[in-house]
Amino acid sequence: MTDKEHISRRPRAEQIAARMTDSVKARRCAALAVMDVTANGRALELALAATDDYAGLEARDRAFARAIAATVFRRSGQIKAVLKPLVRKPPTAPVTAVLQTAVAQIVFMDVPPHAAVGETVEVLKSGKATRGFANFANAVLRRVVEQGRQSAASSPPRANIPGWIRGEWERTYGKMPATKIAVQLIKDPVLDLTVASNREDLAEATGGKPLGRQTLRLDSIGDVTALPGFEDGTWWAQDVSAAQPAQILMDQFDIIKDKRVLDLCAAPGGKTLQLASAGADVTAVDKSSGRLVRLEENLARTKLSATVINQDALEFESEPFDAVLLDAPCSATGTFRRHPDVLHNRSPKSVADLVRLQDKLLPKAASLTAPGGVLVYAVCSLQPDEGLPRIVKFLEMSPDFSLIPLSDLPGLDLPPERFEGGVVRTLPCDLSKAGGMDGFFIAALRKAG
Ligand SMILES: C[S@@+](CC[C@H](N)C(=O)[O-])C[C@H]1O[C@@H](n2cnc3c(N)ncnc32)[C@H](O)[C@@H]1O
Repeated sequence: MTDKEHISRRPRAEQIAARMTDSVKARRCAALAVMDVTANGRALELALAATDDYAGLEARDRAFARAIAATVFRRSGQIKAVLKPLVRKPPTAPVTAVLQTAVAQIVFMDVPPHAAVGETVEVLKSGKATRGFANFANAVLRRVVEQGRQSAASSPPRANIPGWIRGEWERTYGKMPATKIAVQLIKDPVLDLTVASNREDLAEATGGKPLGRQTLRLDSIGDVTALPGFEDGTWWAQDVSAAQPAQILMDQFDIIKDKRVLDLCAAPGGKTLQLASAGADVTAVDKSSGRLVRLEENLARTKLSATVINQDALEFESEPFDAVLLDAPCSATGTFRRHPDVLHNRSPKSVADLVRLQDKLLPKAASLTAPGGVLVYAVCSLQPDEGLPRIVKFLEMSPDFSLIPLSDLPGLDLPPERFEGGVVRTLPCDLSKAGGMDGFFIAALRKAG
């Protein structure tokens, strides 16, 4: 029986399911998605979309389901600490997932406890394999209502980072920075917009704060389509860190206008838009047709243009380009502020697989760079193997390339240690008072002319 069937409809459960309110359905979607992310490595958005009821829910209930599941991933260690003393023998995976979603609501979200307990019990009753745990869960969750907040408070934020990831961060960045990084996981994420023009006007219209050279930061993520300028396409959502690789690339040219630039792993296109809005002649390549649909939508909305090619970068052939931006596929652990699931659907093996791909993509990107041209490598990962060692290995094999040393990201005022060795390493705890920034590794290289 699959995990999904465990909490899914059976003859008697079907009658219960037919009576389920939308808020019970939302809670059930959250629990199913939590299981799917952890067991199958699926991204949270895709896991939610794959549940039976999600598409039929109203936007408000979909947002509720998403918020519950995201809270489970933001607070995983603390939730474990709450449940441990109350559950002698760990129940089955589906029951555990349902209990985790209930603790998320009771302890960390503003959900009335009676609703969280009562509706969680309904979720369990709707599945054949979970129905028998309804009374057990009811008893456990009543104790969570009484003592959950206290147990959670005794567990530090660093407990929310899975052990293997925390170990790598502590060894690479030090214990104290790793702890500061962990604190960012439990904060509500901000919304960053990259603004193509008239940033001051947009700042006035939205109350956002200018950050770096092109970013406007808003306090919270709401409905982005309702923000001023969405229809006109004067901005797009993109973390301030993610805006840096394209800026670094453009800084290497006196004039970027009409320069031929290849964006090698381009979708959904934040960096393509930056380059195109500066007047570069951009070719955007990506293997994923689904993600390229979003890139095309973004180009249409912003009224920008690029040559879009749906192809595996390793097979792409062309005349060399003045500059190549390789925003390589990576574990994306640096993006946990908005995507906390990335800390729960990765493994040392999946990182090792990505490293092998990065080691193939870098020489491919190099072969597409013209003599005298610029190659920028970026990953939104905090895992050390996906950063500097890739560049060191590439440079050892590529005597025609040299590092362009970087020592500053204008307008961001980062400490000098973020530029050690002439590369850039941003951490989520940087700009912490302003809401943090995604963890990125960026290196710029020049090909001998
Ligand atoms: C980090 S994301 C790119 C984000 C994008 N640069 C942006 O700024 O919006 C990595 C991208 O690499 C693409 N990808 C993965 N393997 C690829 C390959 N072998 N060839 C081309 N694209 C690939 C994925 O589909 C994904 O869109």
